[in-house]
Amino acid sequence: MPGVPIYLETFGCQMNELDSELVRGQLLRLGYSFVDAPEQAEVVLFNTCSVREHAESKAYSRIGLVGKRKAQGERVLLGVLGCMAERDGLDMLRRYPQVDVMCGPGELDRLPALLDAARRSEAASQAERVALAGNRTRRSAVLSAVQDDLETLDLSRAFDPDAEGRRAHSAQVRITRGCNKFCTYCVVPYTRGAEVHRPPDHVIDECKRLADAGAIEITLLGQTVNHYRYEHGLAVTVGGREAPQIGPGLQAFRSPIPEGKRVTTFARLLQRIHDEVPAIQRLRFVTSYPRDFGRDILQVMRDCPRICRYLHAPAQSGSDRILGLMNRGYTRAQYEDFVHEVFEILPDATLAGDIIVGFPGETDEDFQATCDLVRTLPFKNNFIFKYSPRPGTIAIDRFPDDVPDEVKRLRNNQLLALQSETSARVHANWVGREVDVLIEECFTDAAPARVPAGGVELRWEGQRAAAGKRALRGRTAGDLIVAMDAPSGAEPESMVGQIVQARVDRSAALLLHGSVLPNTVAAGA
Ligand code: SAH
Ligand code: SF4
Ligand code: F3S
Repeated sequence: MPGVPIYLETFGCQMNELDSELVRGQLLRLGYSFVDAPEQAEVVLFNTCSVREHAESKAYSRIGLVGKRKAQGERVLLGVLGCMAERDGLDMLRRYPQVDVMCGPGELDRLPALLDAARRSEAASQAERVALAGNRTRRSAVLSAVQDDLETLDLSRAFDPDAEGRRAHSAQVRITRGCNKFCTYCVVPYTRGAEVHRPPDHVIDECKRLADAGAIEITLLGQTVNHYRYEHGLAVTVGGREAPQIGPGLQAFRSPIPEGKRVTTFARLLQRIHDEVPAIQRLRFVTSYPRDFGRDILQVMRDCPRICRYLHAPAQSGSDRILGLMNRGYTRAQYEDFVHEVFEILPDATLAGDIIVGFPGETDEDFQATCDLVRTLPFKNNFIFKYSPRPGTIAIDRFPDDVPDEVKRLRNNQLLALQSETSARVHANWVGREVDVLIEECFTDAAPARVPAGGVELRWEGQRAAAGKRALRGRTAGDLIVAMDAPSGAEPESMVGQIVQARVDRSAALLLHGSVLPNTVAAGA
């Protein structure tokens, strides 16, 4: 399909952003081109998210717009990819006949064939245009075959560090697909399927290739990254290479590795990437699960200077009763112990998380317990979400959504205000210190950067009134946002994608203000 223009829009999490990047690479190699506006496209693809109703409504409104164009006689092919396709299934085709192609997140390697069939013939059958996993991804025999194909998609990625719209010189690498935790509110185990770990050699090869192509920061992705575990000598593909492997279950984290078994734990994987791919200046990972986060991981983080001492480890709630209903598998005290251990081993670590307010049955007392957690633990930020009942989850069946929306909103706002105070305290601690900053953007005081963080948009308060003064924005290894005046004499645009050293001069609620230290462009930048 040479030159056919595609518009691809992504909703949802980093996992989806990575999927979109892989899809884009795959389709570019087949000769498709990409455009920035849906009106210019012959193929419109939405890579969707189902995690909250709001995410779905946004995608549905876009689907509606494409429907209007088609009703007016425009020839455009509409594909819905990702978690919403998987969750809605064929029901979406019935309700939105303008949808031509559907592809779940576990089937993306099949997307080119689906598009091809749909473009060649309007009469293409549903089977030729729809690829969803259904319950298949939880049946292990079929699972391996599917995962092998998906694996090819990750392994064959093309990486262009200068591609527009990407965070400079940053790349993401998946280590685990899917999730087995079944938190009662969450769709992910249903849309992404069973937890499957990629072979460590595949992950390391991918990191090497990304580093060769210019990446200096890599984020490892998994829904519960610390539960990564790969047992060697089990599954071997026909080609003799190791294959993706289904997660072992939580018992595996509670007992020592049996003698004679060769296992790559998450700690070991981190250590290997750190040692075998030294060109990566910053190795980070999301999302951490607060349970079974081994001390060995913290020790590796302490001992390896290029692993960022940053944890995104969502607490979700500060109330034991609610944590139980959520099936999170830890108590508040266990969460607190985990955080204390983190700071004991890594005193300069930074901590971020997610919180859900208004979970079914959440009383004022439960909410106060969450407030208390946010007040007392050093979260640099928390993403705060109002509980959204999701079809297919355990919570929607078992617990009525009985906290009124008004109360959810109030709690959301109260918690944001509280988080802002905590963030201000955390940030104030960094004043006077020297930090490495990976520059991500160059902007002018007159047009301040808009940085989404913890649901709040930050505005750079330019130190000088002079409109047009150039400024830089970047992140520390601990993911703290730093804004700085561009040093005089430097070409600020050329600093994007480099690591510089800066002194932190002052702090705001969610932002540090710093000065670039002269002659301190750090090694590798
Ligand atoms: N695997 C990660 C989270 C992935 S989903 C973890 O376990 O931490 C990202 C966040 O969305 C979750 O941490 C949770 O705070 C929020 N979330 C998930 N389902 C939700 C729902 N039904 N309503 C509101 N927020 C939800
Ligand atoms: Fe969802 Fe829980 Fe899995 Fe995170 S750990 S993706 S919240 S089920
Ligand atoms: Fe959304 Fe699926 Fe990610 S539901 S949060 S896109 S895993």
